[in-house]
Amino acid sequence: MKTLRVGIVGSGNMGRRHARAYGYHARAELVACCDIVSCAAQSLADEFGCTAEATFDAMLARDDIEAISICTIEPAHLDAVLKTAAAGKHILLEKPMAMNMDEALEMKQAVEDGGIKFMVAHLFRFDQRCAETKQVIASGKIGEVVSVDCRFHGTPHQQDRIKNSELSIFVFRGCHGIDLMRWYTGSEVVRVYAESLDGQLRQGGYQSEDAVFCLMRFASGAVGSIEVNSHVPAGHPTAGQSSMTVMGTKGMIEQDLNTPWLTVSDGNGIVRSQGNQKDLWFREEIDAFVHHVLDGGPNIATSSDGIAALEISLAAAKSARMNQPVEVFT
Ligand SMILES: NC(=O)c1ccc[n+]([C@@H]2O[C@H](COP(=O)([O-])OP(=O)(O)OC[C@H]3O[C@@H](n4cnc5c(N)ncnc54)[C@H](O)[C@@H]3O)[C@@H](O)[C@H]2O)c1
Repeated sequence: MKTLRVGIVGSGNMGRRHARAYGYHARAELVACCDIVSCAAQSLADEFGCTAEATFDAMLARDDIEAISICTIEPAHLDAVLKTAAAGKHILLEKPMAMNMDEALEMKQAVEDGGIKFMVAHLFRFDQRCAETKQVIASGKIGEVVSVDCRFHGTPHQQDRIKNSELSIFVFRGCHGIDLMRWYTGSEVVRVYAESLDGQLRQGGYQSEDAVFCLMRFASGAVGSIEVNSHVPAGHPTAGQSSMTVMGTKGMIEQDLNTPWLTVSDGNGIVRSQGNQKDLWFREEIDAFVHHVLDGGPNIATSSDGIAALEISLAAAKSARMNQPVEVFT
């Protein structure tokens, strides 16, 4: 049986999640990890039974590694992608794809030049409830999508990793909702208008807004809204709130990711389906990456998906700064 031999760069929170999921996979083997903080790499290596390489270059030089999970902080994504693509190894890159559009386009070019496979870790596509929402919409049960509204709220502490970098909460957190909205509607956002609150987080040493609320128009004619806030208190039971309502011409879907079920109303009644989550979404994500690389299976979140989510996020942040609507993909 062919197995995918992988390395992980960035041995923090997401590095561990990827490592655990590779460990569950029958056709993947975690060979090595690295981090600019050597004890972080050693700790992950000890926990998951792989080698801690002293440098990323040393890890990339290994012939027995075919793919890399890039789980570094956002400002280090570009360098990691360029080096990995040049080394001819496949990439699973944590979201958001990049800090800005120039970086994202440079990555896309490097991936094409390197002839490698590249998937963006848009994790929510692998949540069972989100995947089922997508299937219900595709089945036609709720008719044409007319609106999608959602909120993705989290704690200030969740952005400690990028305290030293200016990055909109709409880019690193809002991208989850935007990616789902594009996926569900099957349509591009053409215009955004956002309002933001700015100040309190900056006083706490962070470099982002406190909250961004945004209205959207899709090419299909559907409308959307997304609220992103960083003020969930530390003691909140799930350290965040992620919920979404999709309205169609014949029904609606409600997903609150703090509950294990999904509610579908199609005019004939209400169905509550189960979607027990826990760590399963990471396992689904890693399985999709392994299947894509080894078997030529579908790429569930392409560089174009990563770029689109980034472009819309940046447009929303810009709209909030300018106090006016911003056209996207013109
Ligand atoms: N649900 C999700 O999808 C989700 C949740 C959290 C974070 N993320 C994303 O995952 C990425 C990492 O976030 P995290 O929470 O794991 O952060 P983290 O701070 O826990 O881990 C990042 C690690 O990268 C290391 N690092 C930084 N620069 C490096 C470099 N140049 N070379 C090698 N290692 C380097 C750090 O030392 C740290 O150990 C980010 O892109 C973030 O947006 C995704």
